[in-house]
Amino acid sequence: MAETKGTLKRDRLYTEEDADLGLIKDRKIAVLGYGSQGHAQAQNMRDQGLDVIVGNVEDRFAEQARSDGFEVVPIAEAVQRGRVILMLIPDEVQPAVYKSDIEPHLTREHTLVFASGYAVHFGLITPPGFLDVIMAVPTCVGAIVRERYARGQGIFGHFGIHQDVTGQAHDLALAVAMGIGILRFGATKTTFGEEVAINLFAETAGLSGMIKYLLTAFEVLIEAGFSAEKAYCETFYEIQFLVETICRMPLGKAVAFGSPTATYLALTKTGDVVTDDVRERMRQMLARIQAGEMVRDWNLEQLAGCPVLNQRKREILEHPISEVEKLFMERKLASGGI
Ligand code: NAI
Repeated sequence: MAETKGTLKRDRLYTEEDADLGLIKDRKIAVLGYGSQGHAQAQNMRDQGLDVIVGNVEDRFAEQARSDGFEVVPIAEAVQRGRVILMLIPDEVQPAVYKSDIEPHLTREHTLVFASGYAVHFGLITPPGFLDVIMAVPTCVGAIVRERYARGQGIFGHFGIHQDVTGQAHDLALAVAMGIGILRFGATKTTFGEEVAINLFAETAGLSGMIKYLLTAFEVLIEAGFSAEKAYCETFYEIQFLVETICRMPLGKAVAFGSPTATYLALTKTGDVVTDDVRERMRQMLARIQAGEMVRDWNLEQLAGCPVLNQRKREILEHPISEVEKLFMERKLASGGI
């Protein structure tokens, strides 16, 4: 089935034993943004005794940070007072905020930390040449980063170096990775370009492919006369079952974890729906991402006020599936949680 040529390229997993948190213990950490990643990373670092302030505009995220016990100051002030600067505002707003509130205050004393290779790799931000620029990236949403850390569990991630001026960038990146909690499980070393390519590929091929699968499967069952409840339940259940099972065991065992019938169908019909020509489309998609086309498209879409994105959001909210989703969400809550 696999078309992998040659031997697999393997990575080392760095863990807490490879890191020295002491490198950033005496340096104030400025977390810019208190959204998905900001709230999680700020709290994980504070739990390890690091000195954290939050830089945020005055909005509901700032209120949340204050109610979680953080000192919240304007972004420019956080940069001035901090030494390790974590850029945790959305990728698409980073360039403007960087120009106005961050760049003017950067000195040789600072270390600039990104949670994505997006802005730097595609040239939307060009940091000055006099400081270390590194990356520490959890591979899941902030709520899970925080939840798992607070439960004593780990999450996977990456760290990387864009600019090493002090000769310490590698160790600093590992220290930040430990601070935000990704070394408990383990992190690979990456580059800004590699991280953003893989991440955008997973979002384009994986997320969009999954959405298309779910909606199409639902529509086919509805067309065939099945009720919305049954179509929704069975379609979504299989995805949930697979995802939850592969979190606990290798794919080869997970597919055999269901009934013999399910295993037979899953393994013998594998290429019937997602046919092999998807491989070529994925290759082309990856090439377009690496060439910066997807980012150019997204920038143009934002400049135009996001008409296509807003239309797609409306379509998915108005899709017939939403009628039955509402009921299922209510029942999940009523029966003890999602
Ligand atoms: P988010 O959308 O949750 O960020 C919200 C924060 O950004 C708030 O504090 C808000 O006040 C601030 N903000 C929004 N617009 C602003 C503006 N115009 N000016 C100033 N502040 C503004 O962002 P998220 O998702 O936490 O992403 C932060 C970074 O983490 C990004 O680089 C992203 O690629 C990366 N990342 C995100 C992951 C995720 O699952 N959300 C996973 C791994 C990395």
